[in-house]
Amino acid sequence: MKKVLLVALLLICIFFACRKEEPSHPELVLRYADNQSTGYPTVEAAKYMAELVKKRTGGKIEIRIYPDSVLGSENSVMEQMTYGGIDMSRFSLGTLSRFFPELWTLQLPYLYTDSEHMWRVLDGDIGDMYLREMSGKGIIGLAWYDAGARSFYTRTPISSFASLQDLTIRVQENDMMSRTIELLGAEAVQIPYGDVYSALQKLRIDGAENNLPSYVFMDHNQAAPYFYQDEHFRLPEVVMISADAQKKVSAIDPGFVEIIEACARDSGVYERKLWQEEENRAYEKAVQSGVTFIIPSDEDMFALKQAMEPLYHELGQKEREIVERIRDT
Ligand code: GCU
Repeated sequence: MKKVLLVALLLICIFFACRKEEPSHPELVLRYADNQSTGYPTVEAAKYMAELVKKRTGGKIEIRIYPDSVLGSENSVMEQMTYGGIDMSRFSLGTLSRFFPELWTLQLPYLYTDSEHMWRVLDGDIGDMYLREMSGKGIIGLAWYDAGARSFYTRTPISSFASLQDLTIRVQENDMMSRTIELLGAEAVQIPYGDVYSALQKLRIDGAENNLPSYVFMDHNQAAPYFYQDEHFRLPEVVMISADAQKKVSAIDPGFVEIIEACARDSGVYERKLWQEEENRAYEKAVQSGVTFIIPSDEDMFALKQAMEPLYHELGQKEREIVERIRDT
């Protein structure tokens, strides 16, 4: 009898040892959109955030990432988020300021002296204030991601500020951005990010402007190999969640709302590190592919800043004060 019991016990132990881990079934799946591809810093950081959320909510919440604009362009994702069709996304400030005009101040050209300056501002009161202000329209700002500095690139050789005049330059779908480009004497054409490569190839535009990783990831370097490194915009990105999704999270456990906020911020720190690595890699790739980098002269930089000065004169009192605070930061 004892022997039978022992064998039975052994069999039970073997059964449990061999049983595969049950797949975890999250109580809530959040759909997260990004218009960049796998490998791009924002997408990799979103994956990192998803891992953190899974771990810290004991597997109850899963964030499923949809890269490559599969859920739509940034504008369409923004609209879908306002009625809860998409739960989370990462947006460029250039897209956001169309929906949140108060963000325009952060989009002013040559606003920061360098990347460190921008991060001092975004990590401080001003950055927090803007994240809070973005929470009024059914979408909540969670964290900032880096997107470097944007410069111009063209199909045909350019050597200076003057060569940009009369060119047709693609901009994000945002009238303020068009205005900025027009102040340089160029013609602005608003085109969604995913269509820029074909617009360059089909000669619909003479050039565009973006950061180096986007330039290389989207193969724009193949079509527009002259990169004029004037770094006119520093447009960070924002990770956002819809108010609807946040309510669903809170219904599972009100503490999970804070967990998601913390995971988004942690992924922001991770993304900045990835961003720096990717900027270097993109530069190497651009050089290897034969891109000509043009560094504007001091006179050129002066002329560019002068041309964009009207944007600063048109600011209201509140925006002017913010610009002053940014300059003092
Ligand atoms: C950057 C940003 C994208 C944005 C794009 C653009 O690449 O990461 O989110 O769509 O600029 O110029 O449209």
